[in-house]
Amino acid sequence: MNIERSPEVLTSSREIASTIDRLAAVIRRDYLGKEPLLLGILKGSFMFMADLIRRLDFPLEVEFVRLSSYGRGTESSGRISVVQGLRSVVRNRDVLVVEDIIDTGLTVAYLLGYLRKKKPASLRLCALLDKPARRKTAVHIDYLGITIPDRFVVGYGLDFDEKFRNLPDLCILED
Ligand code: IMP
Repeated sequence: MNIERSPEVLTSSREIASTIDRLAAVIRRDYLGKEPLLLGILKGSFMFMADLIRRLDFPLEVEFVRLSSYGRGTESSGRISVVQGLRSVVRNRDVLVVEDIIDTGLTVAYLLGYLRKKKPASLRLCALLDKPARRKTAVHIDYLGITIPDRFVVGYGLDFDEKFRNLPDLCILED
């Protein structure tokens, strides 16, 4: 994709913002008085996390974990590993995993399994985007933003080969 030419916008920054408003209203209702740990998966979720927590007006903690599933390119390697581990204690915490996009589901299924063994008080998943066409393992998304078609998207924190994360809109990567 040439960033100089206008890319095809799938979801505008305005639509993303109203989606996050909606998600935050439900999360606020469910977690008020609980002091949850919001756990973002790096790198793609950093922008979503930043916008989500600014809409949550109660005490919470933020942590990030870095997993690897993609090498270079648009296909998942299917092999997941923790690149940067958890510093926060998960045991007895209300943990909300914050992910940018669920594609095959392998990344988040791995992380949820890993976290479940650490005995959190509760464990839920919030995802801005869902691409169900390519799912390889069943994933329950407790808080879902937008379901998208089977296209590779960039922008709003999502990359192709580490590029395009800075686009404010969610755009379709040209073939
Ligand atoms: P999964 O394990 O296949 O569900 O992949 C999840 C991860 O793959 C996400 O956190 C993204 O980093 C990356 N990913 C999946 N689809 C896309 C896409 O369309 N654009 C950018 N990254 C993607």
